[in-house]
Amino acid sequence: MQLDKILQSQGIGSRKHCQQLIRQGHVRIDGQVIMDVKAKFETTDLTFSVFAQDYLYREQVYIALNKPQNYECSHRPQQHLSVFDFFPDELLARNIQTVGRLDQDTTGLLLFTDDGQFLHQLTHPRKHVSKYYVIETENEITQTQIEKLAQGISLKNEKGVFAAHSITQLEAYKLRFAIDQGVYHQVKRMLHAVDNEVIHLHRDQIGQLTLEQLDLAMGEWCYLLPEDVQLLKQVEST
Ligand code: URA
Repeated sequence: MQLDKILQSQGIGSRKHCQQLIRQGHVRIDGQVIMDVKAKFETTDLTFSVFAQDYLYREQVYIALNKPQNYECSHRPQQHLSVFDFFPDELLARNIQTVGRLDQDTTGLLLFTDDGQFLHQLTHPRKHVSKYYVIETENEITQTQIEKLAQGISLKNEKGVFAAHSITQLEAYKLRFAIDQGVYHQVKRMLHAVDNEVIHLHRDQIGQLTLEQLDLAMGEWCYLLPEDVQLLKQVEST
């Protein structure tokens, strides 16, 4: 691929801006300054630098963030900071999007990508990607509540029933379960429907990808490994 196009595709700037950077000698490949905007390079495993900042060429990006509280999943947050504040300009220029959403007060695993097909695959209602939550509740959790959650609950203004699976009671006031859909405030509404309330919500797993394996502190993010992306892509559909 031509060097100016490579830089543009990686979010470095407009084609014109990238051409200027190249002509002004700010771009290196394998330590060598390249001033020919039309020079072509194989992009697989390509590393380059702009103003001495190193980059690895990525055709598409798949990112995991350990989301803290008080961040909104929006480019234009209303009352808090935006989850996009964690990322450098190059990634924002690639127009990364959140894969689903977490409420501003929910913590944990949140994915981002600029791959529209991947985004669709993981968020389409017919694709069943399990999302696992650790839930702290206001009232002591009862067996009846667990049974109702497992059987499925109707939610106001939503079609169908919403059931939890892989339910484990961790403590008197703490539960972990998975849901396969993702309607607005789903976990909070499910707990409310069984006469309990969510005090704190934390997502610790999506599909087979766990926050633990990523080893991210709150507010930290990383690129996903290709094998993790592959695992996430293997979702069932109905
Ligand atoms: N369900 C909720 O109620 N909130 C979230 O953030 C995620 C799932």
